[in-house]
This record gives sequence, structure tokens and C-alpha cells, in this order.
Amino acid sequence: MLKYYEPDKEMRMGGNTNSAKDFGTPVSSTESNALGKKVNLCIDGRFVSVPAGTSIMRAAAINDINIPKLCATDSLEPFGSCRICLVQIQGRRGFSASCTTPVEDGMVVKTQTSAVAKLRRNIMELYISDHPLDCLTCAANGDCQLQDTAGEVGLREVRFGYEGANHLTVEKDKSNSYFTFDASKCIVCSRCVRACEEIQGTFALTIDGRGFDSKVTVSQGEDFMGSECVSCGACVQACPTATLMENSVIHNGIPEHKVITTCAYCGVGCAFEAQVKGDQVVRMIPHKAGKANRGHSCVKGRFAFGYSTHKDRITKPMIRNRIDEPWRQVDWDIALEFAASKIKSIQKRFGDNSVGGITSSRCTNEETYLVQKLVRAAFGNNNVDTCARVCHSPTGYGLKTTLGESAGTQTFDSVEKSDVIIVMGANPTDAHPVFASRMKKRLREGAKLIVVDPRRIDLVRSPHVKSEFHLNLLPGTNVALLNAIAHTIVREKLEDKKFIEERCEKDAFLKWKTFIKKEENSPELMSKKIGVSAERIISAARLFAGAKNGAIYYGLGVTEHSQGSTAVMAIANLAMLTGNLGREGVGVNPLRGQNNVQGSCDMGSFPHELPGYRHVSIESVRQSFENFWGVKIQSAPGLRIPNMFDAAVSGNFKGLYCQGEDIAQSDPNIQHVEEALRSLDCLIVQDLFLNETAKFAHVFLPGASFLEKDGTFTNAERRISPVRKVMAPLSGKADWEVTMAFSKALGFEMNYEHPSEIMEEIAELTPTFRGVSYQRLDEEGSIQWPCNENAPSGTPIMHVDEFVRGKGNFAVTKYVGTEEKAGKRFPLLLTTGRVLSQYNVGAQTRRTDNLRWHREDLLEIHPHDADERGISEGDLLEVASRAGLTSLRATITSRVQPGVVYTTFHHPITGANVITTDNSDWATNCPEYKVTAVQVRKVMNKAEWQSRYERFTETQESYLQKV
Ligand code: SF4
Ligand code: SF4
Ligand code: SF4
Ligand code: FES
Repeated sequence: MLKYYEPDKEMRMGGNTNSAKDFGTPVSSTESNALGKKVNLCIDGRFVSVPAGTSIMRAAAINDINIPKLCATDSLEPFGSCRICLVQIQGRRGFSASCTTPVEDGMVVKTQTSAVAKLRRNIMELYISDHPLDCLTCAANGDCQLQDTAGEVGLREVRFGYEGANHLTVEKDKSNSYFTFDASKCIVCSRCVRACEEIQGTFALTIDGRGFDSKVTVSQGEDFMGSECVSCGACVQACPTATLMENSVIHNGIPEHKVITTCAYCGVGCAFEAQVKGDQVVRMIPHKAGKANRGHSCVKGRFAFGYSTHKDRITKPMIRNRIDEPWRQVDWDIALEFAASKIKSIQKRFGDNSVGGITSSRCTNEETYLVQKLVRAAFGNNNVDTCARVCHSPTGYGLKTTLGESAGTQTFDSVEKSDVIIVMGANPTDAHPVFASRMKKRLREGAKLIVVDPRRIDLVRSPHVKSEFHLNLLPGTNVALLNAIAHTIVREKLEDKKFIEERCEKDAFLKWKTFIKKEENSPELMSKKIGVSAERIISAARLFAGAKNGAIYYGLGVTEHSQGSTAVMAIANLAMLTGNLGREGVGVNPLRGQNNVQGSCDMGSFPHELPGYRHVSIESVRQSFENFWGVKIQSAPGLRIPNMFDAAVSGNFKGLYCQGEDIAQSDPNIQHVEEALRSLDCLIVQDLFLNETAKFAHVFLPGASFLEKDGTFTNAERRISPVRKVMAPLSGKADWEVTMAFSKALGFEMNYEHPSEIMEEIAELTPTFRGVSYQRLDEEGSIQWPCNENAPSGTPIMHVDEFVRGKGNFAVTKYVGTEEKAGKRFPLLLTTGRVLSQYNVGAQTRRTDNLRWHREDLLEIHPHDADERGISEGDLLEVASRAGLTSLRATITSRVQPGVVYTTFHHPITGANVITTDNSDWATNCPEYKVTAVQVRKVMNKAEWQSRYERFTETQESYLQKV
């Protein structure tokens, strides 16, 4: 076993807290396309050789020659406005801006002549003459490029006074909760404007006016909060002065050290520098070397970390015998002993299989692995499941069946090579924002987009992005649409015959071809059902089939259906049919919701699979774990989450250990879930807060935030990234330590001194993780599995020469309409989704200022449907389905089509899942969140469930206050 592993994880901050080296200009497209062509030149007497297309500034920086810069930074295209980077080039008259001048063979450059120095000082003097001289009290003191550059160019005096016109009294814009815009310090370098355009793709900023009057303007002259700014922070990061500054830095001062870690929100898995002062995180800066995010982030990862020290955190273990009793605060040993004795006594009375566990996609791989190990080894059954059950379990099933591996096929970088992109049932600008920015960049470069969604998501039309087709199908018809597209491609002989012949199973393909050619799959016959005209389906099919590189990105709008697994298989079929697998720019890309949903699946969280997606019934696999763990593992799959609920209601399932998952808010048909939770004799919840599930618990074990532990997360690209401890766990224990102690109390000892030892065990027992270790992660930064002897540095693109299963398997995907149909009683179809500022059930983001962007969940309804019902903006509506009813306020919008309504589920009081039904995917039981037939009407009072919820919450919180 590996000895305790201590990475060199804490780095002192340099003078500039955005501390990675800045080369001034990015690798230019000519440079990257120059196919290794080198250019030789001389800079300050040194002979250097750099790729063709490189700027003089970058060539100098590569060779450690520093040229002062203000408007240039290597995350943005060169702009050439500040002129501070002027150099002299032999044989050329005057001075050249080194950031915008490309190198040439034989060039002789001088960066430090007396003429250059004088010019730079003069330019700097002009800047400083209109800049407040409050450096000592400025929040950016020590972290300001203007200050650094003034020093670099040797500016010692400013000859011009402040008497003339200046900008020193301009009012600050403090509207955004996370950063301040102090225009008096602006040097109009335009870095913020370009960051918003080039990196984020929101185009919220412009430079207005000319000369002395030019200034940065937000949108049409609004403040930041009132504009279309999405608070990604790219402009703040790009600003070389204190003009745009994080409020946390203004209040707490410049951070002292940094720890590289990974965002704990969504499946993009952005790498961050957590910049810290003492034990306080002062700011999160997206890590330039992060391979998933390439130095960008969204409002959640960058700014919404305050929940980790929120006053609602519960940091002491608590127990009680019944849920109508107040909690008793106890020490760890008593709590764990109490939990273990309850579980043991349940098993004695009701049998080994009467208890189970739920792992968390918010926790690390190592923690998830331990929970499934505890269930299998200490509980002695396979009753373990994970929240992926309710999101991407169909991805696992569908991709394994067709391609042989339960994971996406690409890197995020891959989108930069795509020519036609299908986005289906996903809303990347809200749910995967950093990836969306990369995709939008590619679209601005000319790639074509097909959006398949019942609702008009932002990607359909946003600044400088316009989809070629928005196939606004009716909820529940994904499979019909995918089949119609495939039918068109086959009918028009547009398939990639060579790829199919070489890479796919012949018999399966022929069987599928016979099926897909049937009239029942034709756009003409299906268009009415789908709700999209045959012409548009056919044109979209032709566009995709004709793409050099066609990529498909999809989300929960594909999986969370009664035919979720069928739709995933239809997507894989479409990719194989068009030869779009096995290289950059193509692929099947599930956009995973939570930060570690891929990892929690990889780690054996499903009741039928051990780590690495191997069925529990395979004796050799079971044996390898049995030998290592020293216990017998049951060979039959255990209960899935919905089975656990049903068994609890019928009295056969009595104990549940739920780590970091809020099933009482996130699962469908909440009233059924509540009944199940009330039926349990022992519910053990491990979480940061008294979440909805914890209100039904008998044992509360405090959880640790991602800032308080070591481990790894695996993102939607299969990328395993390090999570590193920034501060000590507030409760004294990281989650993996709690699971270990609980297991010991149950009589099954686990002995790890550090999560690296858990990863060592995972690697030993899981072929796809064989080459993963903390050491390797430190060396590589992150690794995409499979990582083993065949792929020591991981696998960026899967299925390159052959599929994991050998030949690709075309699966027959017959469209079967959901039982959930709009009818007389429930004439509208409800579908659900997320907003940018909130994360999933909102337990974290609701405890930050992100609440300002989304205070309540609203029901989007089309003007026509609203009109018919006499509904006005903001009216309270009752939304009723066959599962239950709730109420929420209306917002009237043509984003949704007539007949379709939409809401989010970030606030528990909304009770969106009170109305979702227990319909589920035929293969995986993934709930059909995306289609619920409802009726909507205006009401005066909130629903009875909501009043009950409020009373119950009040009671439970009062039990907490008595602690
Ligand atoms: S925070 Fe992001 S979206 Fe807002 S102005 Fe800055 S770069 Fe643009
Ligand atoms: S706000 Fe900052 S980045 Fe933007 S123009 Fe002013 S100084 Fe430059
Ligand atoms: S929430 Fe997602 S996109 Fe935003 S910073 Fe975190 S990982 Fe990146
Ligand atoms: S850094 Fe080159 S012109 Fe500004």
C-alpha cells in the first residue's frame, strides 16, 4: 500500500495573484497551423527560434525576455491599443507593437533601447496622470499590472497635474454582489470587453466614445446587475488594474497562498486556484492549465463558494430516535455507534437486505467508492445506488450496449474541430456554461448548430450565434425524431458506408437498417407526432450527414424519459451511421449534470455493478474484490433507489445511509418518497446542511465541503481531476473518514490514512483505472480514463481504431410513446430544467448571493395558453398532475411552445417533484422528469402540500435550534 501521500499542494502567491506566466498573446492560429515550421530571429542579441505566426511579444516571453504590456494577455487575441509594448526592429522605421507584430525570419528586435524606454515612460505618464494615486490603500496594491508596469518602465514623476479634465470622480458600479467596477481606475485597455466577447461570448461590454471620452459601457448603459452580464468573472480576471475587482479581495485583502483544486458544481469540472488568506478562501481563480476549462469559469465556481462557511452548516453529529423528537448533539463515536447499532438491529429483525446506501455525485470518487464498499462489505448486500439513477443511468446503459463503454467519447477541446453540432435536450449556457462558451466560440468561427429542444434555449439565438435549425419537438418524442433523422440519412444514402463496414457489426446493422427504413420512422409520417415539419427534419438530417465532423451533445432532456435508454442508443446509432466517432471534432457527448456523476457511476455505485461497470454476477470480478476486502459479496443485484422506496413503503426496507444526496427534493413523486422515508426505522444522512432528506433522519453526520478534503472528481469527459484540501473540515472529519469510522462501528474495518490509498485500491481492482495515482495526477494535472498499461497518460478520445466492445452495435430503437400524454384533464406537458445561477436542488447556491438571480422557481407558459386561462405575469398558479399538485408564479414567454410549460426545481418550496410522476425509463428506472401532463389554473392560495411542507420545515428547524 502507498504510504501517506502529501502532494506539494500549497504554493505561496507571487506578487501578482493571477500567477501563471502570461505570454502576452495566445498561440496564434497561424502558429498552430504552421506544421512545425520554425522562424529564427534575434531578440536583444539572443538568437531564438519559435513557431511561425508567433508574435514578437510571445517569442520574447518564451525566451524569458519580458516586454511590458497592458492591453495584451495570452488569453485574448492581441489588440494593440496601449502601445506600451513598443519595440524597435532593425530596418523598420519607428516603433512596432510587439503584441501585434508576428516574427519573421532574420528579424533583429531590440526591446530595451533608450528611445523605447523614453516612449514607454511617456505613455505610462499619460495613463497615470488620469489615474488615482491611492496605490497604498488600493485593494489591488501588489496585484496590479499598471503598478507593476509603471515600475518596469521606470516612471518616477508625472508632470501633468490633476487640474485638467479627468475621470477620477466617476461613480463606482457596485450592483453586482461579487465584484465592483471602479471606472476611475480604468485605462480603457479593452481587455474586459474582449474577455466578455472572446472567452465568455456574452458581449455585455463595449467601449463607448472616442479618445479622452472613451469608456467601458455595460450593455446599453445599465449597471452590471441590470445587464445581460452572467457574472462569469472573465472581465474581472482580465482587468490589469483595480477597475474590476472581486469584492472578497476588496474586503479581505490580497490572498497569500493558493491550492489547485476542482469545482464541485457541474460536470464540466473546472480547475481552480483557491486563493487563500489564513484559512479563508479569498477568491477562486480558474486555473489556466485546467484542461477542462482552459482558464475560464462560471458564476457558480468562481463566486458561489460562500456556502462552505454559511451559518447553516451543521458541524456536530446529531441523533434522535424518532423524527418528531428534537435532535441531540453528540460526539462522533456516540453518533456512529448509535447508527451502527440501529442498522445491526434492523438486519437482525428484517434480514441482511433490509438496509442500503446511496452514494453522492457531489462527493469524491474515493468517498463514493467507500460507501459502495461499506454497503457491499459491511451491510453485506448490493443495495447501493446513486443519484445518477435519476439523471444519466440511461447513458450508461445505452452507450455500453452500442459502443461498449458507459461514458462520453471526447474531450471538451474536441468541439473546436466540430463543423456541425447537435445539442439535444441540454441547455449548456445554463447547465454547463464554461463548455457552452467554448462551443459558442466554435459557432462564431462558422460551425453549424442544430438545437433539439421543446424550449427555445439561449443557444438558439444569442449574440453572434444563431442555430441553423431549432427542432422544437414535443416532450417525449426524442426517439421518434432521432429515428426520422436516421431514416432520412439511410433513404438518401448519406450514410458513411466505409465506417459502417469497417467498424460496425454487419448483422446488427442490417437488422437495424431494415427497421429504420420502415415507413413508421419516416419524417413524413412522424412529423405530426414530433411537432416538427418533415422538411425541417430532413434538412437537419442532411446537414448533419454532410458534416466533415459532426458532434452530438446531449443532456437530461434525452435521458429522463421512459425511453431514455432508447434515445441514447439512437444517438449512438446516428454517430455510427455518419462515421462520427473515434477522432477529434465528433463523438457522443453526454453533458453530465453534477460534478462527479461520471465518477460515482465509475466507482460501482449501481446495485448491479462493481467499480469499472462490471456486473456483480461475474464470479471472477466478484472474487477479486472478495479477496481484497476479505468478505463475500452477493452475486445478485441489489435494489435501485425507486425499489428501495417501494420496499420501504411496503415494510421490507428499514434502514438507509444517504451520503450527500437530497432525495426528498430531487427524486420524482415526492409524496411517495416522503412516505418511504417516514417508514424507515433508521435514516442516516451525511450532508452539509439540514437538507430536505435530513428532516426525516434519525442520525445526522456532518459532511465536509470540497474545500475541506482531498480526493478526485471525474467530469463529463472522463477526466479525473484532483480535489485538494484548502481548509480543515469544520466537523473535524472529511466524508471518507466518516464512512470509514461508520464501517468500523459496523464491524468491518477499513484502514486508510489518506484518500490516495483509496485510489491505490481502486486502481488495483479496476482495469480502466490501473494507471491512476495521485502521483500521476500531480504530474499530468488530470487524466481521462481508461488509464492503464495501454494508455499510460489516459485516453482523450475513445473508440479510435475500434470500439471498446470490438465492433459497434446498431441497436433497434423502436419509438414507443410515453403513457404520460396530454389529454382533457391534463392538457399541457410540463418539462423541467436548470438556470445558470443555481445548482441542482440549490442547497449550496441558495446559500450564496446567486439567489439574487433566481429567488423562486417560475412556471414558463406560452402567451396563448396563458390567455386561454386568463393568466397574467406573476399570477400564482396551481399546477396539477396525476401525482400531485403544487403552486408557483407564472412567467409568460414564447420560449416555450403552446401546449408546453416549463419550470426549474431549485427551491424545495416549489415542489416541482410533487407533480412529476413515477414513470421511468424501461431499462434503468431513470424517472421521466421531462414529461408530465398537467393542468394549470390561477389560484389565490398556495397548495396544501406547500403549507404542510412549511409547517414540517418549521418544526424540524425548531428541533435543530434546541440543540
Ligand atoms: S462578468 Fe462575464 S458576462 Fe459579465 S461582463 Fe464580465 S465577462 Fe461579460
Ligand atoms: S475595466 Fe479594466 S480591463 Fe476593462 S478597459 Fe478598464 S482597465 Fe481595461
Ligand atoms: S459550475 Fe461547472 S462550469 Fe461553472 S465553474 Fe464549476 S465546473 Fe465550471
Ligand atoms: S500590449 Fe501591445 S499594444 Fe498594448
